[in-house]
Amino acid sequence: MITIAIGSDHAGYRLKQEVKDYFRDQGIRFNDFGVDTPESVDYPDIALVVAESVARGENKYGILICGTGIGMVMAANKVPGIRAALCHDIFTARAAREHNDANILAVGERVTGGGVACGIVETFLQTSFQGGRHERMFL
Ligand code: RB5
Repeated sequence: MITIAIGSDHAGYRLKQEVKDYFRDQGIRFNDFGVDTPESVDYPDIALVVAESVARGENKYGILICGTGIGMVMAANKVPGIRAALCHDIFTARAAREHNDANILAVGERVTGGGVACGIVETFLQTSFQGGRHERMFL
């Protein structure tokens, strides 16, 4: 059974709790890399540990949450082997998997409500890479 790495900064920890509740409801196994308080932290520190665990193959996918998702996706993409995508809706979540073979999903708690975010997560986890012409785009 696959596992999902999940992490947030202080601006994303409430949404992270909602996504974890969704995982529990669905029986999806996850590893939580923090944080769980509103105390301010530097989002790259969380992005790095989640991205490294995915790059090492310890978790199949990663979910990163900050205020906007922007800082998390920028930081995660510095780790070799990571293709992190910031998604705002079901369409971008599906495309991130089908076209980009994204292995990390970033969402923003200040941008996306809990119900939509869980739908984005569900779509991301259930959608396969299409391969074919999309393989040429990888550096
Ligand atoms: C924290 O205030 C905020 O800057 C951070 O969560 C994120 O949105 C950065 O991209």
